[in-house]
Amino acid sequence: MSNREWHLLSRPVGWPKPEDFALVETEVPTPGDGQVLVRNTHLSVDPYMRGRMSAAKSYAAPYELGKVMQGGAVGEVLASNAEGISAGDHVLHFFGWREYAVMDAKHAVKVDPEAAPPSTYLGVLGMTGLTAYAGLLRTASFKEGDVVFVSGAAGAVGSQVGQIAKLKGASRVIGSAGSDEKVELLVDEYGFDAAFNYKNGPVSEQLRAAAPDGIDVYFDNVGGEHLEAAVGSLNLRGRIAICGMISVYNNTEPAPGPRNLARLIQTRGRIEGFLVGDHYDLQPQFVSEVVPWVASGALKYRETVVDGIENTLEAFLGVLRGDNTGKMIVKL
Ligand SMILES: NC(=O)c1ccc[n+]([C@@H]2O[C@H](COP(=O)([O-])OP(=O)(O)OC[C@H]3O[C@@H](n4cnc5c(N)ncnc54)[C@H](OP(=O)(O)O)[C@@H]3O)[C@@H](O)[C@H]2O)c1
Repeated sequence: MSNREWHLLSRPVGWPKPEDFALVETEVPTPGDGQVLVRNTHLSVDPYMRGRMSAAKSYAAPYELGKVMQGGAVGEVLASNAEGISAGDHVLHFFGWREYAVMDAKHAVKVDPEAAPPSTYLGVLGMTGLTAYAGLLRTASFKEGDVVFVSGAAGAVGSQVGQIAKLKGASRVIGSAGSDEKVELLVDEYGFDAAFNYKNGPVSEQLRAAAPDGIDVYFDNVGGEHLEAAVGSLNLRGRIAICGMISVYNNTEPAPGPRNLARLIQTRGRIEGFLVGDHYDLQPQFVSEVVPWVASGALKYRETVVDGIENTLEAFLGVLRGDNTGKMIVKL
């Protein structure tokens, strides 16, 4: 058996290029004491991985050049030298971007593929779902009756933010996305009250039209023009949760900040960034609330599934381009 894995060869400048990466053939590793061998079935590709391709100091260490990259993955245990995990179990772990992985058992979390499709542990029931839940309810201090605006609204995190806000009694939910099809999906399937295509005109004008009485919460996945527009529409004691700023991830120069931050004085507004990793204490509450919503269909989700380890890089680049609707998954 051979294993294929994606290595980072050089640090991308601007948009990542295929020559910055290589799909390398290696031997399948053998598990030692306390370790398990996993055949990955589903890989996650996420926007934050762009940050780890850079050497800049951040909350997660840069990917090492010439080595396999990391990321969320679900797989089936083929062999186990560890107590508590057996061959045939399915596990969630962080050794993605490869077909086979060996890891200490403490880094593998058992999941039940009968209870929910394995891919959902990477998306709606996993890291991106918790990001939406924690960012909206804790960082943005969402409360019933709020008017909520979310960007990247047809993506993995954004689509959950808008629906959770509706389920928790938002008075109005507005989303923005990068195509007319995504905008339709937000309103018709996810129940957003209004949505617009940010490519169709200035965000500030489209937001004002969609939220004539202003917004109480902005969940930012995008940064840039969206953030300035949200500050411009913020109501008294409005809250902005900075989850991500995908519009600047491939910039080679720092992007200009919002020009209207003085509005935070009038509005007593608050802007706060957050990392999902700081909110795993919410996991039990997240599971008890979100699992039944997903099971009943009250909380909908989509996945864009790309097949094959050889297409993992293309899937990752697709997330940056907006090819995905909902969570981007690579199925092996
Ligand atoms: N803070 C945390 O702990 C945390 C955790 C997870 C994710 N995040 C962040 O949350 C955001 C969403 O992540 P995700 O995993 O759910 O990804 P996603 O939204 O499923 O995919 C990214 C989406 O961003 C949109 N996009 C790309 N370039 C854009 C641009 N220039 N302007 C506006 N939209 C653009 C694309 O959709 P369109 O077609 O709509 O353009 C694309 O589908 C990212 O910024 C990510 O870094 C943060």
